Amino acid sequence: MIEGDDFEIFLVTAPGLESALCAEARAAGFRAPTSVKGGVTVTGGWPDVWRANLEIRGASHVFARIAAFRALHLAQLDKRARKLAWGEFLRKDVPFRVEASCKHSRIYHQGAAAQRIENAIKDQLGAPLSPDAELCIKVRIEDDLCTISVDTSGESLHKRGHKEAVAKAPMRENLAALFLRQCGYDGTEPVVDPMCGSGTFVIEAAEIAAGLKPGRTRHFAFEQLATFDAAAWQRLQGAGGNKGKVSGSDSRAPTVRFYGSDRDAGAIQMSRDNAERAGVAALTAFRQHAISDLVAPEGPPGLVIVNPPYGGRVGDRKALYPLYNALGQTLRSRFTGWRVGLVTNDASLAAATGLPFAPPAGSVSHGGISVTLFLTGPLP
Ligand SMILES: C[S@@+](CC[C@H](N)C(=O)[O-])C[C@H]1O[C@@H](n2cnc3c(N)ncnc32)[C@H](O)[C@@H]1O
Repeated sequence: MIEGDDFEIFLVTAPGLESALCAEARAAGFRAPTSVKGGVTVTGGWPDVWRANLEIRGASHVFARIAAFRALHLAQLDKRARKLAWGEFLRKDVPFRVEASCKHSRIYHQGAAAQRIENAIKDQLGAPLSPDAELCIKVRIEDDLCTISVDTSGESLHKRGHKEAVAKAPMRENLAALFLRQCGYDGTEPVVDPMCGSGTFVIEAAEIAAGLKPGRTRHFAFEQLATFDAAAWQRLQGAGGNKGKVSGSDSRAPTVRFYGSDRDAGAIQMSRDNAERAGVAALTAFRQHAISDLVAPEGPPGLVIVNPPYGGRVGDRKALYPLYNALGQTLRSRFTGWRVGLVTNDASLAAATGLPFAPPAGSVSHGGISVTLFLTGPLP
């Protein structure tokens, strides 16, 4: 139930990862987390919106629901949109844009629907309309019900703000965080990624272990809303005092370490640069070598998480069997006691590792490719 000034907040994620995101939202103390298609709804006020953007690792965007009403035709949409008090959350000096979508509704022309909302805002508030505006109003008309939200994130949240270098086929940070969660990773065990690319899994894991908030260095669209309170936001950012970087001797620094390797020298340089910018260089180690030279780090066992190259066309897939096979052989012979999480688009490639995977939970849509997390228990 939504109380007082609270409203619905929608955390967007990749289809297939809703329940993992729901678990994250619950653990982070958000109210009434509910898994729905493509994301999770929670309820709260503007401080909850800011905190979700700052702290939730698995979401790509945070939408704040500002209105919902029935609209059977464009004139009705126009009339109802003009009744909304836009000035309560939009500023007249900040450019905005509108994106609309229509499904199973009498209003079927999304361009026309968007235009009605744009005109209502322009006429009431005088705010400038701009196709490049960071601030985006989302209008969804489904079964004749129109819901209006504001995208409070702006640029996708997988862009943490401190990771510049990106390898080929990078894993998005928010998906990496949810895959780590699905592997049962809680920040207390070491993590190894033997095909680390730009270092996404390793850096996410180190940040989680160090308690670093994912949004600590970036800007958000909500900073341009009329509801923004800069002093309260600063207090929220400072809470826990973890804006900066972690040194190995820091008392709150984790004792375990996070390891990445890749046969590509450029990837290793990128990973090191990204870890430095993220403030976790002291917790991470990156080395250039192929899978065949991989050995388990000293110390307790933990989690190996990896997304090897994907098989696209059949020919590519065939060429990848030896690589997956070599990966499996190395892990089976040298990583006793470690769990393995493998993300790939092809079950037969996963099977080629010979690793004892449990039946997977389901697939996740990642940049147009459907990928699956295959997970083992501790290896014998
Ligand atoms: C899909 S990418 C991984 C992307 C990474 N998770 C990221 O977020 O940037 C696969 C990586 O496997 C590496 N790779 C391919 N064959 C390898 C091998 N035999 N040994 C080590 N790394 C290899 C590639 O260089 C590439 O960086």
